[in-house]
Amino acid sequence: MESFEYRNGRLFCEEMALDTLAATHGTPAYVYSRDAIERAYLAYANALQGRGALICYAVKANSNIALLNLLARLGAGFDIVSIGELERVLRAGGDPAKVVFSGVGKQADEIRRALDVGIFCFNIESDAELDRVNAVALEAGKVARVSFRVNPDVDAGTHPYISTGLKENKFGIDIDQAIVVYRRAAALPGVDVVGMDCHIGSQLTEISPFLDALERLLQLVDRLQTEGIHISHLDLGGGLGVCYTDETPPAPDAFIAAMLERLGDRPLQLIFEPGRSIVANAGVLLTRVEFLKQTGEKNFAIIDAAMNDLIRPALYSAYQEIIPLSLRDEGESRHWDLVGPICETGDFLGKDRELNLQAGDLLAVCSAGAYGFVMASNYNSRPRPVELMVDDNQVFVIREREKISDLMQGEQLLPGDC
Ligand code: LLP
Repeated sequence: MESFEYRNGRLFCEEMALDTLAATHGTPAYVYSRDAIERAYLAYANALQGRGALICYAVKANSNIALLNLLARLGAGFDIVSIGELERVLRAGGDPAKVVFSGVGKQADEIRRALDVGIFCFNIESDAELDRVNAVALEAGKVARVSFRVNPDVDAGTHPYISTGLKENKFGIDIDQAIVVYRRAAALPGVDVVGMDCHIGSQLTEISPFLDALERLLQLVDRLQTEGIHISHLDLGGGLGVCYTDETPPAPDAFIAAMLERLGDRPLQLIFEPGRSIVANAGVLLTRVEFLKQTGEKNFAIIDAAMNDLIRPALYSAYQEIIPLSLRDEGESRHWDLVGPICETGDFLGKDRELNLQAGDLLAVCSAGAYGFVMASNYNSRPRPVELMVDDNQVFVIREREKISDLMQGEQLLPGDC
């Protein structure tokens, strides 16, 4: 969390004190550092300089259009999984010619829209999806550029819910069957076979599973070449992990260097789809302690953020650091469960955390820039938090806090006479 640091006991994001932001904009609030986002992206871009590679930021990690716009200005491409994400990219000024479209269940109208705006490539995940893309393209009088997501059957060594490259997962085409699908695709008039892709999981902290996957993909590329099917790009997906507590994932430059070394001088264009490693540690979720409640068994700090605002702890038992916005000299630390106001036992953001707390304290849940706001819901009819972007000593509201009236938007009573 390089752009977040204590100065004289107060937590800052770049040149802004976070307690000031909480006072002005209220809590819960997501706060992102522009500098941290840009530096994380540039770490990839610099490592790939001169290679003609495409860095397609995975929009699902954080899809706020202000953030997408910052990345678009730096030349990023985008990995999308729905037409909603495509429209966000377009609104943010992203270049459709740098968009790859992933996901196992693309709808015909989504395919049509993506063809109309001229995306770079469809990452196809099944035989049936190939037929759908081919049919929609023919109907539109276009040819779709396609890649096949190959499932290389490697163990990413991550949480089972975010592991995607094993045979038992729903993603991609079994590497042993891929050749058959490639052959079939090569003969279809609505598609142009240009690439091969994989994404083996998320929050990977070792390079070796990526290298194993690359190895298997390269073997398949060579085999296809002997059959006259030429692959011009290789998309290695996202998945590079970040430090939430004491993990030591490789830095993007070390990760890229390892991939480039294995690739040697093969004339393949490389694509990456990083999400978490661009934004996770560029954001925090600010929250306030409402009450302290000590039972015989436990110390609970009831905070104003909940599982609807940040679901990772409840969903994956994910650990995210929780730190005070102001350090306190007096008083003593205790072990606290930080729980939200939602009526579920699973509604916690942290358990058994050693903190020196008082009611009214402001806290930051760290590493909340990825899979934070995007996974937020209105459960318990709670408005979703405001999103703020700090740029040096300025702050911008990039999404307003939802209002109660927003919650009922589109809902209708039945007519009084029925
Ligand atoms: N490309 C594809 C095809 C993906 O499915 C994903 C993530 C990415 C790229 C980006 O992966 P990243 O670089 O962010 O690891 N909600 C979970 C993470 C789900 C990831 C899903 N796919 C979490 O909060 O940990």
